Amino acid sequence: MSRVTFASKMGLIAAAAGSAVGLGNIWRFPSETAAGGGALFIIIYLACIFFFGIPLMLSEFIVGRSSKSNAAGAFRILAPNTKWNYVGRLGVFSGLVILGFYMVVCGWTLFYIFQSVTGGLSSVSDFSANFETLLQNPLKQWILTVVFTFMTAFFVVSGVKKGIELSAKTMMPLLLLLLIILAVRSLTLPGASAGIDFLFKPKLENMHPSVLMSAMGQSFFSLSLGMACMITYASYFNNETDLTKTAFQVSILDTGVALLAGITIFPAAFALAQNSETITSELIAGGPGLLFITLPNLFNQMPLSIVWSTIFFVLLAIAALTSTISLMEVVTAYIHEEFNLSRFRSVLIVTIVILLLGAFSSFSSLFFNTLDFISAKIMLPIGGLFTSLFVGWYVDKKIVFAQLTNDNKISIGVRFLKAYVFILRYLAPVAILVIFIYGLWGSF
Ligand code: TRP
Repeated sequence: MSRVTFASKMGLIAAAAGSAVGLGNIWRFPSETAAGGGALFIIIYLACIFFFGIPLMLSEFIVGRSSKSNAAGAFRILAPNTKWNYVGRLGVFSGLVILGFYMVVCGWTLFYIFQSVTGGLSSVSDFSANFETLLQNPLKQWILTVVFTFMTAFFVVSGVKKGIELSAKTMMPLLLLLLIILAVRSLTLPGASAGIDFLFKPKLENMHPSVLMSAMGQSFFSLSLGMACMITYASYFNNETDLTKTAFQVSILDTGVALLAGITIFPAAFALAQNSETITSELIAGGPGLLFITLPNLFNQMPLSIVWSTIFFVLLAIAALTSTISLMEVVTAYIHEEFNLSRFRSVLIVTIVILLLGAFSSFSSLFFNTLDFISAKIMLPIGGLFTSLFVGWYVDKKIVFAQLTNDNKISIGVRFLKAYVFILRYLAPVAILVIFIYGLWGSF
């Protein structure tokens, strides 16, 4: 049976970028940056993207396209009769853990769409209180989570080509455009420069072991790495795709969107703060509300605020949707192929699990935060570590080379190849392990 593939090159990049670009960039990146004290976090984050993010994405692409199989199947095909397939299984599990809190945030975006469309948002005077009221209504959050989960399930049932590719291809460019407009508005507010300072002037006294761990976790989270998501997507790539180029393009796009979100949110947060003395400490105390408090406030500074906020939250929901689709696809492809259940039944099972986890996350912020913490800071780095070791040490270098060059059709430099293998074998595993242990030790 020949497996489905993405229809076009643009579609494939949009799908992979659609997975990467999501709430991780626009919601999680700013709040992690704030909690990590600003610029220093960003520098470490960028280093993580460059030194392990891009190489690991490439590795997931290699594993996925050479095996053309689901998360666990991919490892089994490349390493039969070994325990490597547990890395894939761990990925499937991580996917569920992520969906268990991510879907709740997706629900929040629906709430804000609703508030924008009805005009309620433009008459709010205290945006923190507005967000708090939502958090204090777990049932409402859960119902919104259910709606978003069903939307995701609908696309995943409809399959790779129609569902995933089309939605990603059309909406991504729009989101980018809108973010640029918002960034300009935010940067031109009086007092915006304090936000830029916070973002780009590192304060060394903010250095703490947990900042390293947060930045590393965020880099995995944002690029959709460490849980076989890019393995699953690359299993639908065709043989002409230039994997190296795609890994760079997707990572650059993803990082660009995150930085753009930062440039939009921080200047606005500083400029619109009620009390400029306490803003830095408030930001650092952070919390998941930053995006949902600062941006509505920014829209209110613009003419036609209802229009801006509606468009923004709709695009945010779509960016989130292309990410939840990718997360759900990992678990679905796994159940579908490993247990021989129909796609529909597989999706049904995943949906039930997500709704259960989502209920707990809606009712308990402790549960929500725990899922966020263990997935991004523990499970993804472990998944990434093993994937790096797998491609660096275990997978036959002929396969790696054939995948990188598309069977000698594209040329790659020897130096690039050497650096790549060095990163996978030594640099990434050691660095991930050190940051992980240092960070855990610093968290307690
Ligand atoms: N990267 C997405 C975001 O930034 C979330 C996501 C999708 C993800 N697939 C993933 C995170 C796989 C980790 C692993 O919102």
